[in-house]
Amino acid sequence: MKAYIKTFGCQMNENDSERMMYLIEKEGYSRTYNIKDSDLIILNTCAVREKAKNRLYGHIGNLKNLKYKKNNVLICIGGCISQSLREKILKDFPFVDIVFGTHNIAEIPQLIKKRLKTNKNICSIHEEGFDPGIFKVKREKIFKAYVPISIGCDNYCSYCIVPFVRGREKSIEEEKIIENVKDLVIKGVIEIMLLGQNVNSYGNDLNGKYSFSGLLEKISDIKGLKRIRFMTSHPKDFSLDIIDMIKSRDNLVKHIHLPLQSGSDKILKKMNRSYTRKYYFNIISNIRRKIPHCAITTDIIVGFPGEERSDFMKTLDMIKSIRYNRAFTFIYSPREGTKAFKMNDCIQLDDKKKWFRELIDIQQKISFDENKKIVGKKFEVLVEGNSKKGLNMLEGRMENNTVVNFKGGKDLIGRIVPVIITGARSFYVTGDLSKE
Ligand code: SAH
Ligand code: SF4
Ligand code: F3S
Repeated sequence: MKAYIKTFGCQMNENDSERMMYLIEKEGYSRTYNIKDSDLIILNTCAVREKAKNRLYGHIGNLKNLKYKKNNVLICIGGCISQSLREKILKDFPFVDIVFGTHNIAEIPQLIKKRLKTNKNICSIHEEGFDPGIFKVKREKIFKAYVPISIGCDNYCSYCIVPFVRGREKSIEEEKIIENVKDLVIKGVIEIMLLGQNVNSYGNDLNGKYSFSGLLEKISDIKGLKRIRFMTSHPKDFSLDIIDMIKSRDNLVKHIHLPLQSGSDKILKKMNRSYTRKYYFNIISNIRRKIPHCAITTDIIVGFPGEERSDFMKTLDMIKSIRYNRAFTFIYSPREGTKAFKMNDCIQLDDKKKWFRELIDIQQKISFDENKKIVGKKFEVLVEGNSKKGLNMLEGRMENNTVVNFKGGKDLIGRIVPVIITGARSFYVTGDLSKE
């Protein structure tokens, strides 16, 4: 029997799909990438923006025909949209077999059995929960792995649906994380990414027994681990000892993703981000002073309710002076149930789109200029797989997460190799394998 899993969301969501694959493999399913060939389809959904929801609805709609032709295929919808829409999905799409949420992934095997036995569609959502089997996953790559360190979020940024669909923040005990990472290294993993909606508040819910920088130190001590990444950092909890820790350890990558969201204090306040522009600048100048070559990336929302041209200009001003290596930019998307949903929003969507374009153009130029600066230099690149840029081309990542495309054989996949950078684009660089 074959299973097709499609992931719509963030790294947490991808990690959840890996858990789902582990669980259903034990039930006798193997993975297929051809949806028509599958006996079980799981769509692991994302609710963060309306566009993600629209995309999902298009996808489910397309499955109706497949179900019609192949009656015994099981269609399951999981993830953050399921957690928020629940039975509504079955109402909108009666041919869907199972709807499950973010807290009951471990239940999937039972739900499948029940569905096959009763021939009735099922919606099973839990309000909260923590799966002790969280580290049991079926990974696609042997050399890199996600490592969740906390689940949920307590920050309630006013625009964000995540706390509603992922529950309260819960940190995983340090000992369990370390044990898991050691096990991964034995299995051949050389790069890990620690995952949490706010990694910097790691341990706050466990009586202050653990801290994020303490966790980083212990993980960094594990022999054989070449690269340790983490996301996401919240500026309000980003303590400066993390910068010293990153500086002092070779295997802590010199890349920090620090979402700014807005450069205007008025908007940051309305967003409930709990920091000011000045506070954020101070973190950046500390990073730059202590780790001059550290890559810094960010997330920005354009068109938050009440944002005026003057506020947007403050965001642009930050972008220009900080010069991020990369920025993930989004037009504000109202999410029902959040505080911002009820805020008065008088800026036209057309204006928001114009600002958004302006922001992208400026950031693309900055990313391009930053990438140009490294042409001619040599970097260690972890080869991740084949590149879409051409035959015999590989794709890898520099320590600072910059994507590199270069010519080379498949045997290099999973290895760290030296590459001389020869060309720059906004989103990636090209290079040649170094002979040394
Ligand atoms: N916990 C992480 C990631 C949250 S979701 C963090 O705090 O950074 C990833 C990004 O999606 C956010 O950083 C934000 O920029 C964006 N986002 C979240 N909700 C949004 C909304 N309603 N509209 C537009 N963008 C949103
Ligand atoms: Fe959403 Fe804010 Fe939590 Fe990130 S920190 S998941 S943006 S509420
Ligand atoms: Fe991630 Fe989307 Fe859920 S960003 S936590 S999959 S709403």
